[in-house]
Amino acid sequence: MNGFELYNTTRLVFGEGKVNQLGELIKPYGENILLVYGGGSIKQTGLYSKVKQQLTSIGATVEELPGIEPNPRLTTVNKGIQICRQKNIQFILAVGGGSVIDAAKAIAAGALYSGDVWDFTIQKATINQALPIGTVLTLAATGSEMNGGSVITNWETKQKRTMGSKLLYPKFSIVDPTLTFTVPRNQTVNGIVDIMSHVFEQYFSQTPSTPLQERFAEGILQTVIENGEKALQNGKDYDSRANLLLAGTYAMNGTLPTGVEADWATHVIEHEVSAIYDLPHGEGLAILFPNWMKHVYKERLEKFVQYSIRVWNVNSLGKTDNEVALEGIEATRNYFTRIGAPATLTEVGIDDSHLERMANEAVQFGAIGSFKKLTKEDVLSILHASL
Ligand code: NZQ
Ligand code: ZN
Repeated sequence: MNGFELYNTTRLVFGEGKVNQLGELIKPYGENILLVYGGGSIKQTGLYSKVKQQLTSIGATVEELPGIEPNPRLTTVNKGIQICRQKNIQFILAVGGGSVIDAAKAIAAGALYSGDVWDFTIQKATINQALPIGTVLTLAATGSEMNGGSVITNWETKQKRTMGSKLLYPKFSIVDPTLTFTVPRNQTVNGIVDIMSHVFEQYFSQTPSTPLQERFAEGILQTVIENGEKALQNGKDYDSRANLLLAGTYAMNGTLPTGVEADWATHVIEHEVSAIYDLPHGEGLAILFPNWMKHVYKERLEKFVQYSIRVWNVNSLGKTDNEVALEGIEATRNYFTRIGAPATLTEVGIDDSHLERMANEAVQFGAIGSFKKLTKEDVLSILHASL
């Protein structure tokens, strides 16, 4: 196990009706609030009026930034930064899924920086200060509600990039499973795939002797596999929605990578795909991940054997390690297909015309990943296998 530091500063407020605490939770941070949300789901579900009531109850002055896109755009983030500066915003409240939360984080960092907020994604500047943010989560997927990462798309240059800082951890996140009852089937599927992918990125590691982290990861995977299907059968099943949410948060709140070198190559490749095609993140991951697995599994065969047996209950009797590992990878693909996720780029309308560009962008700072360091040729091979 490697050395590590774990310091997660987000106050997680979990359970039905917890939105009633919103006013009290915001109060210490000021009265000028920027409310950030997406394309309208929070108005349809009635959450918007509950949030507004809470803000009114503490006498807050509220500016609004609606219309955050899935795969949030830099241009929209810049609008938010302008509002913060002009209206002397003291606190940013994100109400929505990962895209809304990520946009709020980028606005929080950009508002207190004199340069271009994009600088944070290209290592031209580091985040030294940020406005405080809080979130009301409406979708189980990214884990952005309890981490300091933000993923933003520059649609003009077709680049999707990450920024991150301890300063971007939400001060609090309200996670109420009933707020996810209205998540449509395809977004529920995307969330399931994203959560599982986050676990894969941190589970398939070359770091030896990490049994507890592995059991945590396997536990999250089994919880998602089981509860994902239940939530898809009945979207209003409180327990399965709650279990998915908790799994999503724990998959990305810093617990899994304690003492473990994580990989993240598949996320880098997926971001290149969705930067060009505006593909939902979960769809890209469902297509790519089993192909990444096939490409790398021999680098540490026993880890994939363990994965197959512990997560998918593959019966290893009379089989070679190679066969067992491949069965686990196949089980992953079958599960994604069973819940309705795409399996090929062709299915989602993507051909080979930009694969070269995606591979170049993915490795622009050098080889990616750590389970196996992927060169441009490796990335191209995974992308071709995904067509
Ligand atoms: O925009 P609205 O109208 O709110 O609708 C959204 C959106 O269309 C809808 N939705 C959300 N909650 C709903 C709902 N519809 C009905 N009822 C509800 N309760 O779902 C759609 C997708 O929302 P989005 O926020 O885009 O989804 P997700 O949470 O999957 O976020 C995806 C973004 O997060 C990034 C992805 O790359 C992508 O840009 N990621 C962020 C990470 C992080 N910050 O840690 C890590 C991830 O790996 C990921 O890269
Ligand atoms: Zn992800």
